[in-house]
Amino acid sequence: MKKTQNNGFILIVDDNPTNLSVLCEALNSEGFRFRVAVDGESAIAQAERNQPELILLDIQMPGIDGFETCRRLKANPVTQNIPIIFTTALADTESKTKGFSLGAVDYIPKPFAQEEVIARVRVHLQLKQLTESLEQQVNDRTKDLQKAQVQLVQQEKLSTLGELIAGIGHEINNPINFISSNIPPLQEYITAVTELLLLYEQEYPNPTAKITNTIENLDLKFVLEDMGKILNSLQIGSERIQNLSNSLRNFSRSDSDAKIPADLHQGLDSTLVILQHRLKANGDLPGIEVIKSYGILPEVNCYLGQMNQVFMNILANAIDALDEAIMEGKKSNLIPQIKITTEIDSEKLVIIRIADNGIGIPERLKKRLFEPLFTTKTVGKGTGLGLSIAYQIVVDKHNGILEVNSQPGIGTEFIIKIPT
Ligand SMILES: Nc1ncnc2c1ncn2[C@@H]1O[C@H](COP(=O)(O)OP(=O)(O)O)[C@@H](O)[C@H]1O
Ligand SMILES: [Mg+2]
Repeated sequence: MKKTQNNGFILIVDDNPTNLSVLCEALNSEGFRFRVAVDGESAIAQAERNQPELILLDIQMPGIDGFETCRRLKANPVTQNIPIIFTTALADTESKTKGFSLGAVDYIPKPFAQEEVIARVRVHLQLKQLTESLEQQVNDRTKDLQKAQVQLVQQEKLSTLGELIAGIGHEINNPINFISSNIPPLQEYITAVTELLLLYEQEYPNPTAKITNTIENLDLKFVLEDMGKILNSLQIGSERIQNLSNSLRNFSRSDSDAKIPADLHQGLDSTLVILQHRLKANGDLPGIEVIKSYGILPEVNCYLGQMNQVFMNILANAIDALDEAIMEGKKSNLIPQIKITTEIDSEKLVIIRIADNGIGIPERLKKRLFEPLFTTKTVGKGTGLGLSIAYQIVVDKHNGILEVNSQPGIGTEFIIKIPT
């Protein structure tokens, strides 16, 4: 019969062989496991090495007495939570009070009555176990609450940020439309005015000196040529801004209550546009090559705004892993790459693979990746929420699958599978 928890045992501290044998017999008869120390010093050493569930401590002993032993045990963080019951013939109130004030939980007078010893030991073991399980519960709850709180704050931030981005995307759209929609007529007018000038030149080959001078000062030939180029770059610039504005609005689209059919390639592309600044060469970091190998995908019933969040979190991690590989210089001549592959399998699952040739993930960390708050990055760089949010969105919200393959030093691949 095992009365103490796990490998728990009771430590009896007494220098008197008769007392020891009475206590041992009492505990033995009830199946309690116990160990023995014959003085204070060795009791402390034993308790430090291997924490007992309970200590029965004699007061009068050679060397340090029970009070001092108790004081030292309570001062040591390793042993301070072990309940201590004094056993003694000193039955005066003063001794009892002193024992309690040092942190003892109970008092058993000598000579021992077996039943009393057993009853008190049992009560205190139970109390200790209850306290521990309560503490554990409080700890667990506190952790859960912290996680939930961080997630709430983060989600709140994301949605505020999402609204902001969508708003900016929308606001940019009008002015850039003024610009881009006015470029074609401007181009037409300029062509017409240029033609008119040429016609003048033809019809009046000998203009006045004033006109000849002005043409020369202006370098008319160059101006006419350059005007076309300027118009062209205005056109390209405004197309890029339009593209960005569309991507911003697509990326941060707020999802309706129900899933709607959406083009996941458009989601991936918008996300890449938003991450463009991190993909371009920057300082010591070379540009990251993105290799897209898109299959033909049907529209997928999903919350596209959330799916974009998944793409964003996984792509941002891939970029971090590549940056780190380059910074650490572990892979010289590394050409940083991200490969995005999409396909649909026979079971109507859309499969999206996002692979990088960055630092990779050590085997022992793999099972923790999707835990909220798990991060290997420094404070401020990582929150440890990216993958847990991605997991929640793919698995819980879309009945999908999120898997990872990785080889340390070679690279990592995340695989997203979403039912159509
Ligand atoms: N592509 C990747 N390559 C290497 N490690 C990765 C990759 N993606 C995720 N990880 C690891 O998973 C951890 C958790 O990722 P995540 O939940 O996004 O949190 P965070 O990026 O804030 O650290 C990262 O800290 C990193 O150690
Ligand atoms: Mg991340």
